[in-house]
Amino acid sequence: MNGSVAAQPYLWWQTGLIYQVYPRSFQDSNGDGIGDLEGIRQRLDYLKWLGINALWISPIYPSPMADFGYDISDYTGIHPLFGSMDDFNRLLEETHRQGLKLILDLVPNHTSHQHPWFLESRSSRDNPKRDWYLWQDAKPDGSPPNNWLSVFGGSAWEWDPQTQQYYYHAYLKEQPDLNWRNPRVQETMLNVMRFWLDKGVDGFRVDVMWHMMKDDQWRDNPPNPDYKPSMSPYKQLKPTYSVDQPEVHQVVAKMRQVMDQYHERVIIGEIYLPIQQLVTYYGMGRPGAHLPFNFQLISLPWNARDIALAIDQYEGALPSDGWPNWVLGNHDKSRIASRVGQAQARVAAMLLLTLRGTPTLYYADELGLQDVLIPPRLVQDPWEKNEPGLGLGRDPVRTPMQWDASNNAGFSDAEPWLPLSHDHPKKNVAAQQEDEQSILMLYKKLISLRQAEPALHAGSYRPLHAEGDLLAYLRLTESKTFLVVLNLGHAPALFKPADMEPKGELLISTHPLPNDKLVNGTLKLRGDEGMVIRLD
Ligand code: GLC
Repeated sequence: MNGSVAAQPYLWWQTGLIYQVYPRSFQDSNGDGIGDLEGIRQRLDYLKWLGINALWISPIYPSPMADFGYDISDYTGIHPLFGSMDDFNRLLEETHRQGLKLILDLVPNHTSHQHPWFLESRSSRDNPKRDWYLWQDAKPDGSPPNNWLSVFGGSAWEWDPQTQQYYYHAYLKEQPDLNWRNPRVQETMLNVMRFWLDKGVDGFRVDVMWHMMKDDQWRDNPPNPDYKPSMSPYKQLKPTYSVDQPEVHQVVAKMRQVMDQYHERVIIGEIYLPIQQLVTYYGMGRPGAHLPFNFQLISLPWNARDIALAIDQYEGALPSDGWPNWVLGNHDKSRIASRVGQAQARVAAMLLLTLRGTPTLYYADELGLQDVLIPPRLVQDPWEKNEPGLGLGRDPVRTPMQWDASNNAGFSDAEPWLPLSHDHPKKNVAAQQEDEQSILMLYKKLISLRQAEPALHAGSYRPLHAEGDLLAYLRLTESKTFLVVLNLGHAPALFKPADMEPKGELLISTHPLPNDKLVNGTLKLRGDEGMVIRLD
């Protein structure tokens, strides 16, 4: 990694930043309270201004919306709620015209129960599509074939009275899992990928990649000794046989082969697994995903030692040609500003945007938006409806983008599908663009420095210090070195590295910059302060 950066052919998805748009909540253009494709197109200027390179849009395909688009009934269409194929083509064209890339969500593990394939499959045992899904006989006593649980609650098996078998669904019963051992299923889904790639889409974020293959003997999952009643009931068992099966890598390799037939496309995998297993998704023998999503920052305790250790373990576990990536939030997890608080959300931004590897930003995190409390009568998420009160619902992190102080925060002329955060009159893009000290402007500065400096978007990473509340590291090329020091605590702290005397210039702080930006020796950090320093 220490070689000459300029000589390396880095690709856009390595040096760039990805921004996740949750389409229902980004911008409504037709006054129905739900975001749409034309709305996203109208806001591309903002994304360009912010400095990101690619947007990933959560599913926009026809769907009964049992799981808000992650239950697809037509893989090559557009849901009328979001617009038409013409709208999509226009969005893609405009995205490219602006020099940005467009990444779609691909949901290959399961379809909607309303997908014509499933309707056929469940119509009779001898239907040619029967084997496209995972049908199994009941046990002699009539109970499900094994003990596997659905992530969203209850058994993962649903009885079909008409054909007298169970089908498997890792998520809702409205989301039956496809049988990826069936070559016809594989070829059909690879053709779905080709359909969008031919249109010019720049890549896919592949939904639940680690779920795609299951044990062919359908063995029972063992109990999880670490389970506590406060956890999601799904965690009662270890998913030993229902996820991360060795055969999954053959499937991922086939997907990658399709991508490789096109120019510079990217395949990103949604994978929640410990690091040692996660990195196998870069490929086992044959190339796999370009970027298996690294979600560590979402679940780690927020302290210097744990974070430093996680970075080291990740850097150490990466295959030699594996490009790192970091994610701070997504549409399934509590927002960063709620997890660590408003002040630390700024430090988190600095961490995300100075680590080695492609950062993925979740819409509105750049405003410091927090989880929004959703009153029971407004709950939309099926997970919350299935298992209420456990804090599993995802509506709080899917509320509308806050653009300005106008009606409905400029998101829609109509009442939004989920309530806005109460602070939207102040916490919005327009207001924060006017305020040099806002978190949005901090994001913008960090992004623009990262984009401008090879040391930050492609240079190597060197750990320096992780003690108490202080985390410090270097990002460097042969010609330039940046020192990043983060105070993860609320109290002021002194940073005095043992084996170096930092000299340089303070470029960005999470706090107002002092008049004297020269750094010479010991650093004084305010509570919750992070600094990026260019060393001499
Ligand atoms: C992924 C998606 C999530 C969805 C689930 C089932 O985890 O991110 O939103 O509910 O898959 O498709």
